[in-house]
Amino acid sequence: MYSKAKICTIIVFTCLVGILAYQCGGALYAPTALDAERVQVNLDTLLLGRQLYIRNCGGCHHLYLPEKYTQTQWKEIVARMQKPAKINDNQAKIIYQYLSAGAKP
Ligand code: HEC
Repeated sequence: MYSKAKICTIIVFTCLVGILAYQCGGALYAPTALDAERVQVNLDTLLLGRQLYIRNCGGCHHLYLPEKYTQTQWKEIVARMQKPAKINDNQAKIIYQYLSAGAKP
């Protein structure tokens, strides 16, 4: 039998791992070949977009989930965030492609 203290430790540990995974973008959807097909964007581009998003957009606030905004909203947001994120037009475009592929309908 596990002692109460041991069960407590396991629960706390599981929560910490969960929080860490979330912070590192674990909750962000990972694009699949189906997504690529649906939005007609190369899968490698979508995967790169996810990486760029995690790397460039999580420094000042948490990473907003793609499904939180519509494609139109993401277009406007990425344009507004490009300067603070110090990314070039191409990087902004690739990040937008990833976000819009998972956007709210
Ligand atoms: C230098 C800091 C900084 C970086 C880097 C940054 N943001 Fe932001 N972001 C902000 C601030 C400040 C706000 C809130 C005020 C505002 O809306 O301008 C915000 C707000 C947001 C919001 C909330 C919705 C909204 O309309 O305000 C989203 C979504 C967002 N950012 C996405 C991004 C994306 C995508 C990137 C990467 C391209 C990014 N952010 C990079 C500072 C940053």
